[in-house]
Amino acid sequence: LLEWFARARAEAPVFWDESRQAWQVFRYDDYLTVSTNPQLFSSDFSPVFPVPEELAILMGPGTFGGIDPPRHGPLRKLVSQAFTPRRIATLEPRIAEITRGLLDGLREKGQIDVVSDLAYPLPVIVIAELLGIPAEDRDLFREWVDVILNNEGMEYPNLPDDFSETMGPAIKEWGDYLYRRIALKRETPTDDLMSGLIEAEVEGRRLTDEEIVNIVALLLTAGHISSATLLGNLFLVLDEHREAQAELRADRDLIPGAIEETLRYRSPFNNIFRLLKEDTDILGHPMKAGQMVVAWIASANRDSAHFSDPDTFDVRRQPNKHMSFGHGIHHCLGSFLARLEAKVFLELFFDEFSDYRVEHDEVEFYEEDELTARRLPVTVTRH
Ligand code: HEM
Repeated sequence: LLEWFARARAEAPVFWDESRQAWQVFRYDDYLTVSTNPQLFSSDFSPVFPVPEELAILMGPGTFGGIDPPRHGPLRKLVSQAFTPRRIATLEPRIAEITRGLLDGLREKGQIDVVSDLAYPLPVIVIAELLGIPAEDRDLFREWVDVILNNEGMEYPNLPDDFSETMGPAIKEWGDYLYRRIALKRETPTDDLMSGLIEAEVEGRRLTDEEIVNIVALLLTAGHISSATLLGNLFLVLDEHREAQAELRADRDLIPGAIEETLRYRSPFNNIFRLLKEDTDILGHPMKAGQMVVAWIASANRDSAHFSDPDTFDVRRQPNKHMSFGHGIHHCLGSFLARLEAKVFLELFFDEFSDYRVEHDEVEFYEEDELTARRLPVTVTRH
């Protein structure tokens, strides 16, 4: 994939891909053009892919990741009022506790699977915590989310064959559960994110129950696998760059920079999709309303016009304006949480283990492009 990006950036940075029926966009500056012009490049695909009714809980009117101005701004503002960096920062000790709990469960093991043992469970437990899901419901909450998000082979908007046995009931039960939680919180507010969403108000407007359920779903769909992938990627990249790992272990202040560089070097989200709303030649080609556009984050992040030695992993890279959290009005709302989780996680991992080795023969990825690990066995050495 990286070779394809490099060739495309040099020879055909924007081209119509007949096989995928989409414009492909590879350069950093063009990524900025796509993401800063939502009036041309729309995030709302409902005109071409109407949301199946069965997915309304996951993708209803509150799903602000998939809508455009003027509706996007007010909704995002309402959510931002509740999802503040301050609220997230107060979670740091709990993130550490949850991580420690996961690490404690691995005490007897010499080999662990970073994905299933640590990276996959951590973000969903943290989101449940943030939402104030009571401890006794956590396992149930996780089980639903596992079924809902584990929709491999589902080619949206077509539902998987076994939808009515698996995903369908899980979505319904989970949705009913969230509606019940919202009703409870309306009666007895607390200081968690759920109550924050209920109380948020912008120009006299508040969120409806349906919007809140959609927003919770969006936080999970946008925030779970992506965060888990970042955690997995840290292991892959620091295994490949052992000197950098030694430096981080010796000087923990380098960790935030290393997380940024890992985000750039191995982006958890590779691309964004947009639907052209109007004809335009803003990218130097005659693009037509109704066509799809794929803008590659992972390619923008390796563009030498913006990064010196883009193929070198450099934990001290400054500035490092990677596009891994997107850009413009849809810029990732959870970037603060993702960064915090990664920092806490890596520090505690270093405290617990003096070394680790990725067992490359056993690593499994979701796709052939080898970007997102599904199984990441590592052999660990304790202090
Ligand atoms: C949007 C990446 C973690 C919530 C985005 C976008 C990217 C992204 C690239 C922009 C999509 C677009 O332009 O269409 C990531 C990465 C993460 C991460 C790489 C982890 C390393 C999270 C977390 C949450 C979250 C933890 C929340 C719990 C969101 C939301 C949006 C978003 C709500 C939509 C914002 C909007 O449309 O206004 N994310 N994300 N993300 N992200 Fe994240």
